[in-house]
Amino acid sequence: MKKINVTTSAVLYDNLSDLNQEDQKLMNDAIEARKKAYAPYSKFNVGAALLLENDIIITGNNQENAAYPSGMCAERVAIWKAGSEYPRVKIKKLVITAASLEYTVDKPVGPCGACRQAIHEFEFNQKEPIEIIFMGEVGKIIKVESLVSLLPFSFDSSFL
Ligand code: THU
Repeated sequence: MKKINVTTSAVLYDNLSDLNQEDQKLMNDAIEARKKAYAPYSKFNVGAALLLENDIIITGNNQENAAYPSGMCAERVAIWKAGSEYPRVKIKKLVITAASLEYTVDKPVGPCGACRQAIHEFEFNQKEPIEIIFMGEVGKIIKVESLVSLLPFSFDSSFL
């Protein structure tokens, strides 16, 4: 038997103003997208902004449904929008923000497990890392260099 240690690394920023200009702009786009979320059931609004290698920015937000599991997360709305409008154009960055109508979200909100898997499909195919930056409504911001930092031992098409 052998123990394997898996390490992950992230950068923690105290304020939005500590991000570079490009990341601040993407976060502002994600905030605007978040404000347009359709989340009447959870009252938890999420916004996402993607930067593509052709410099186009794609945004998305969560879209809920009265039949709860039929809803969709902001991150997957955004990446599938990118995949459908700009197939095979690489994604450089994904920026996420979340705010609740019921309390102040002051911790960074990372993508859910299903979104991590969906993002992984894109990162695996494009063979270049997707930087992921996430925050709540206020407070600290986390940045990881690649989806791999959020999803070790991941599953991909090489197994099939
Ligand atoms: N949600 C997202 O949009 N992204 C995530 O990564 C986590 C959860 C949405 C789904 C649902 O509309 C609401 O947040 C509460 O789960």
